[in-house]
Amino acid sequence: MFTFKHVIFVASVCMVSMGSALLAETPNRGKPVDEATIAPWDISILPDGTGLPKGSGTPAQGAPIFAEKCSGCHGENGKGGEANALISDRELIGISAAQKTIKNFWPYSTTVFDFIRRAMPFQMPHSLTDDEVYALTAYILAGNKLIGPDDAMDAQTLPKVKMPYRDNFILRFPDRI
Ligand code: HEC
Repeated sequence: MFTFKHVIFVASVCMVSMGSALLAETPNRGKPVDEATIAPWDISILPDGTGLPKGSGTPAQGAPIFAEKCSGCHGENGKGGEANALISDRELIGISAAQKTIKNFWPYSTTVFDFIRRAMPFQMPHSLTDDEVYALTAYILAGNKLIGPDDAMDAQTLPKVKMPYRDNFILRFPDRI
């Protein structure tokens, strides 16, 4: 007699064989990506500087690069233009995004490097060398009087620059910093 138990048994056999068939037949979209292909996209830098590349740059080296590749949008000396001011003494009053600047809001100096390297110049991201990004970062930090005019930025010095607003953030996962 074909009992309820038989039904369950037959159903489970069917499901197991269907399952292995599904595992064997993937949608076959894409192909495995190797480390070398991932590397140019794996560029996140952590607040403590983890991920910063070799190289260095000073404010003086950054100035001409800024004038050539950045001031068209961010204004002469980074004072603001079509795009945000990058060098500014504006106070942060309220929470409007328009008020926020690197100096009055960004908690980590390393983010300046990360942002420029991944996203700027706006029309040609990923076109700067690491030395150029260090130099531009140094130029912006020096313009904001967060480092001295002759301080070189590199993987050791940049994470040590403490941003003025840093302690005003409430960290949800402090152990991850
Ligand atoms: C074609 C215009 C353009 C050029 C050229 C350009 N930027 Fe930008 N930049 C922008 C825009 C637009 C934003 C805002 C982007 C956003 O919020 O996603 C921005 C944002 C930034 C920010 C973040 C500012 C903030 O307060 O949020 C930094 C830092 C920056 N740019 C640096 C640079 C540097 C350094 C260069 C030169 C290598 C450069 N930019 C060249 C248009 C430009």
